[in-house]
Amino acid sequence: MHSASNAEASTAWPFQVRALTPHMGAEISGIDFSTDLSADTLQAVHRAFLHYQVLVFSAQHISPEQQVQLARGFGEVQIHVMNQYHTEGLPEIYRLSNLNEQGLPNGKHPDRGTLAWHTDGSWLRVTGHATLIYGEVMPEPGQGGQTHFCDMYGAYERLDASMKQRIADMRAVHNLDFSRTRRHAENPMTDEQRKIAPPVDHPVVRTHPETGRKCLYLGDHAQYIVGMDYEAGRKLIEELNSFALQADLIYEHEWQVHQLLIWDNRCLMHKATTYDPFTQKRVIRRCTVLGEIPH
Ligand code: SIN
Repeated sequence: MHSASNAEASTAWPFQVRALTPHMGAEISGIDFSTDLSADTLQAVHRAFLHYQVLVFSAQHISPEQQVQLARGFGEVQIHVMNQYHTEGLPEIYRLSNLNEQGLPNGKHPDRGTLAWHTDGSWLRVTGHATLIYGEVMPEPGQGGQTHFCDMYGAYERLDASMKQRIADMRAVHNLDFSRTRRHAENPMTDEQRKIAPPVDHPVVRTHPETGRKCLYLGDHAQYIVGMDYEAGRKLIEELNSFALQADLIYEHEWQVHQLLIWDNRCLMHKATTYDPFTQKRVIRRCTVLGEIPH
């Protein structure tokens, strides 16, 4: 299996790198994004991003504008169709907050769809490349509100040969309306939003456009398999999504406030964990960068 730590030994990084698991995730220190968004730094960060899939940067003090600028270093930043989450004047920032106008917990989770394993923007024709989340306010330690990641390269590699052959040419339809309605049906999409984001199909096995490695590309937005009986396709999607969730393919990130996470949606699933929205406060700012049409 590919190993982040083995490859790390032969790679010189212009910052400090601490691998978080044997084959995915790294904490990077020695960069301050509030003062350094230089092309050299971004290039090295991008290299590390391809290598480790998820990067953690602690003690960052970046404004929403700086976050968008950093995201643009990775590519075109998505303006999310669910415009009720946009930050005023900065629609590239998707803000998830459970605070009321007095800054107190309002008792409502802002987007319960994020609690299921998914990959950002898989419901778009041009899908999510990187996601950058900044933790503005986080629950107290031990109170949840964490983010977990699952390595979909590893999941694909562990499938047996007959399953690899079976799914090699399959395509799945991804549909934001399906996943939202199924998981919570709160703030349903409007007709206008449905029109902007109709269902799209993508390969079930994706070849990463930059590393050339194959991975499973499913998650919670995947609704059915093209050309297969609906229920049989649902069963297969659930089976593959569950198969991926092997303990050593998962990195469970425990947030500290003012951390910035950057991850690769093309080869990871992620999910947030629950917290009590009546007693705990959580505010994150998210930018998703658009990538390419999957192959
Ligand atoms: C998301 O799923 O994009 C948000 C994850 C989180 O809130 O930790």
